[in-house]
Order: sequence, then C-alpha cells, then structure tokens
Amino acid sequence: MVACQPDLSDDPIPYIPFNEIIINLSFPEYATLRTDGGYKEVNGGVRGIIVYRVNATSYNAFERNCSFHPNDACATVNIHSSSLYMTDPCCGSTFDFSDGNPSGGVAWRPLRKYRTQLTGTTLSITDEVIN
Ligand code: FES
Repeated sequence: MVACQPDLSDDPIPYIPFNEIIINLSFPEYATLRTDGGYKEVNGGVRGIIVYRVNATSYNAFERNCSFHPNDACATVNIHSSSLYMTDPCCGSTFDFSDGNPSGGVAWRPLRKYRTQLTGTTLSITDEVIN
C-alpha cells in the first residue's frame, strides 16, 4: 500500500526533552523581550528556541526545527529580516508568530510550541509541547 510507505517529507519534528529554561527579563541580554513584538533566540529544544513577546503577559516559545523535512541539516527557522515572521531559508517556508502556523512555502505543520509561564519578571520555558 502506497500510504504505508515511509514518506520522509512527513517526518515529525524530533523531540528532545530539556530542563526548564529560566529567563530573567530584567537582564540586559533580554532587553528585546521587554517590547511587544520583540524576540530572542535561546538554546534548548532540538535546534534552539525562538521566544516571542506577544504582550506584557503573553510569550510564545517556538522550536526552531522546521516542521518540513525536520531532519534535513538545514531545517532551522530564523526570524525574517522584516521581524514580521519566521522563515526557514532552506526551502523558504514561513511561519507566523501567533501560533507558528505555516503562512507560505512547503511546510504544512505548525512549528512546535513549548509552554511558557511568566511570574513577575521571570519567564520560564518547559519542554511541554502545547500544540
Ligand atoms: S526544511 Fe524547512 S522549508 Fe525546507
């Protein structure tokens, strides 16, 4: 049956557990995360995590491993130079900042989203997947 044959284009994003990431938003290195629409790349996950500030009480944390051909060496998502969306320059897929949904290109799965929690100026990111 054709449908049962492995389709490399359908590989899920691999999962690598990680210890809770604690970010103190008052530190200078996280200054960009104190403005709505600001973002910062941090280590963790499979290929790193993009943290995005939606507003003062809401932050998103996206796995940087692209959801399309995630095992390709190049399948790593960056912030587009416009700062308006994320993109994998590998084959040009684009993803929005609200849910990591694909907005263009070949990818059809969203980027993985990890749980975030804000307590005062402390933002924590855990390996719990929320999408
Ligand atoms: S692996 Fe992401 S678009 Fe090609």
